[in-house]
Amino acid sequence: MKVPFVDLQAQYVSLSSAMEGAIADVIQKNAFIGGPYLKEFEKSFAVFCGVPHAVGVSNGTDALRLALLGCGVGPGDEVITTPNTFIATAEAIAMIGAQVRFIDVDPETGNMDPKNLKGALTPRTRAIVPVHLYGRPADMSAICQFAQTHHLKVVSDAAQAHGALFQGKPIGQWGDAASFSFYPGKNLGAYGDAGAVVTNSPEVAAQVALLRDHGRTQKYEHKILGFNCRMDGLQAAVLSVKLPHLAEWTRQRQSHAKRYEDLLASTAGIRLVKNRAGAESVAHLYTILCDDREALRSHLTSRGIETGLHYPIPLHLQPALSSMGFKPGDFPVAEAWAQNVLSLPLFPELTEEQLVYVAAALNERVRVC
Ligand SMILES: Cc1ncc(COP(=O)(O)O)c(C=O)c1O
Repeated sequence: MKVPFVDLQAQYVSLSSAMEGAIADVIQKNAFIGGPYLKEFEKSFAVFCGVPHAVGVSNGTDALRLALLGCGVGPGDEVITTPNTFIATAEAIAMIGAQVRFIDVDPETGNMDPKNLKGALTPRTRAIVPVHLYGRPADMSAICQFAQTHHLKVVSDAAQAHGALFQGKPIGQWGDAASFSFYPGKNLGAYGDAGAVVTNSPEVAAQVALLRDHGRTQKYEHKILGFNCRMDGLQAAVLSVKLPHLAEWTRQRQSHAKRYEDLLASTAGIRLVKNRAGAESVAHLYTILCDDREALRSHLTSRGIETGLHYPIPLHLQPALSSMGFKPGDFPVAEAWAQNVLSLPLFPELTEEQLVYVAAALNERVRVC
C-alpha cells in the first residue's frame, strides 16, 4: 500500500466545484490584489481565531516579519526564539535587522522552554517568538508572564497552529500578535503562498496593513516606507472556500493523532510526543522520536509510507547562520530532537486502513530488530 505524507488532491476533489466557482468569480471581477475577497477572508479568519483583527499578507514568513515590525520591534533589538523550527522563524527576525537569541527547547514537547528565557535576557531584549510546533501550543502562560515582567512583546509563530488553544484560549489571543502561514500543506492551505497576522490590537493591525502595501494610506500617498507583502484576491477566495471546513478537518486530524497514539503506545524504540496540560493541539504534524531514525525511515519507505523530518538541522547549526558562531552541543535538547524526529503521514482524509498499516509497519520494524 502507498501512504502519502499529505494528500492535497483528496481535499481538492471534495471542494472542486465550490473552488472553481470562487476562482472564476475573482477573475470575472478582476479582484486580483486585496479587494472584497481579501476583506471577507480577513473578517472570517479573525472570527475563527477569536480576535478582532486579521490582516492577510503574502506568506507566513512575511506575516512574522510584519507582525514584529508592527509591534515596534526593529534594528538593534534582540528577539528570543528556539532553534527547533523552520528557518523562516529566524529569517523573519533577521530580516527586520534584529538579533536572534536562541534558547533550548523543552525535552517533552520540543517547544520553547520558558525556564530558559531568563538566561537569554539582556538590556536589548525586545520580544519573544514562541513557535507552536506541529500545531501544539507552547506554554503561553509562562512565556507571557515573563514578557510582562520584563516589558517584552510576544509574537507567536503560529504557522502550524491554526485554531490551537492554550488553557482554552485561542493562541491568537495570547501576547501581542500571531503570524500564520497558508502554505498549501498547512492545516489551512492556499493554492500558492499566503499568510496572515492576527492581533487584539487595532494599532498593530493598522501598522501591519500599512507595511504590507508600501505604507499606502490612499492612492499615491505613502505614510511610511513599507513593502509589497499583499495577499492575492485568488488566494483569499480559495481560503474562504476552505475556512468553513477547517474545524472538521482539525477534528479529523486530532482523531488520527489519537489513533496513532493508541496504536503506538507500546511500540518499543520510539517515543511519542505528549501534549502539555492545557495545550490543545491542532495536529498539523504527527511527529515521533526514535533512536534509529534513518533505519526506521528506510523501513517505512520500503513499505510505501512517506515520512518527513521536522526538522533535521537545528537552526543554530544551519550554514546560513554560521556567522553566529554556534557549535554542536550548544542547544543539546534541540540537537537530540533534530536527530530523532520522524513525522508520520497525517492529513484529514487519511483512512483507518492507511493509519493501521503505518502503525503495523512501525511495530513490524521493531520485531525485525
Ligand atoms: C514554523 C514555521 N514558521 C514559518 C513558516 C513560514 O511560512 P511560509 O512558508 O508561508 O512563508 C513556516 C512554513 O513552513 C513554518 O512551519
